[in-house]
Amino acid sequence: MLQDAHGRSFEYLRLSITEVCNFSCSYCLPDGYRKKPGPGFMRLDEIARLARAFAELGTWKIRITGGEPSVRRDFTQVIETLAAIAGVRRLATTTNGYRLKENAQSWHKAGLQAINVSVDSFKPNIFHKVTGHDRLDEVKAGIDACLEANYEAVKVNAVLLKGINDNDLGSFLDYVKNRPVGMRFIELMRTGDNAAYFNRYHVPATVVSEALEREGWVRKTREPGAGPAVDYVHGDYAGSIGLIAPYSKDFCKSCNRLRVSALGKLHLCLFTEFGMNLRPLLQADEQLDELKTFLGRSLQSKAVSHFLDDGITGGNHRFADIGG
Ligand code: 5AD
Ligand code: SF4
Repeated sequence: MLQDAHGRSFEYLRLSITEVCNFSCSYCLPDGYRKKPGPGFMRLDEIARLARAFAELGTWKIRITGGEPSVRRDFTQVIETLAAIAGVRRLATTTNGYRLKENAQSWHKAGLQAINVSVDSFKPNIFHKVTGHDRLDEVKAGIDACLEANYEAVKVNAVLLKGINDNDLGSFLDYVKNRPVGMRFIELMRTGDNAAYFNRYHVPATVVSEALEREGWVRKTREPGAGPAVDYVHGDYAGSIGLIAPYSKDFCKSCNRLRVSALGKLHLCLFTEFGMNLRPLLQADEQLDELKTFLGRSLQSKAVSHFLDDGITGGNHRFADIGG
């Protein structure tokens, strides 16, 4: 079992398989993805070895992230490979919904059980403004295709942005009225290179929680093993609303996740400056034990908190580099 020195255990891996993205969200890749020189992203065999090591150490949930994971041509094979690993009981991905409609069924058949789709606004012009793409209708059709394909969980993520979508709770509530989706609002996080953007657009998730409570939404009791989201439910709604507020007190106490970047670096926290390079240990099946030992040892240096309140942003420049 992967445990740190602060009594937290880690059964959830966020695994990035590419830094490439075809959207250009204003908070993430405002100028779009640009290819960088250097090593390529992890190959399928490296991904398989990595996931096997984590699974043998007790990881049972894997979320495939990016960039946009589905731009990888072997994405369906990545799903099949991870789903086949003993011990992996929950396989999820986070996608921008591009071509989701066409693929929802086949990804589900390949073994994908849960999907998070990023939708920062249900107003087409605002969606366009934030993502750089006029594709809201296709993305919505993709979400409906996931509901039809009977995924175990379908969630929609919106990054809360001051003046862009924080004044628009009604359209999100309408969306979950009759759809069993989990709508989640994520507080904008400051990364290494978005200080000005952050100062302009950050808004605390309390603006949503206060509005929800006024409208009769009830905070759900935390389930054991739940991550840092706080969930709200309402008898008149098929869906639920979750809040992810990294700047709130005690956010890090329920941390249950580790991250590996598409380049094969272990990040103990989204906000740590450096990743630990796992790649040399992913080259042959015989390295499995060595990799497991390395992972267990690395975790001992995981800090108790992200110290964001002290203005630390860490060295990660964009979410697209390390996984959203
Ligand atoms: N703050 C919060 N969330 C972010 N994401 C990307 N950049 C940020 C940021 N600066 C998340 C969003 C997006 C997912 C791919 O990554 O939730 O939907
Ligand atoms: Fe792409 Fe997601 Fe970043 Fe948007 S937030 S640019 S969809 S990786």
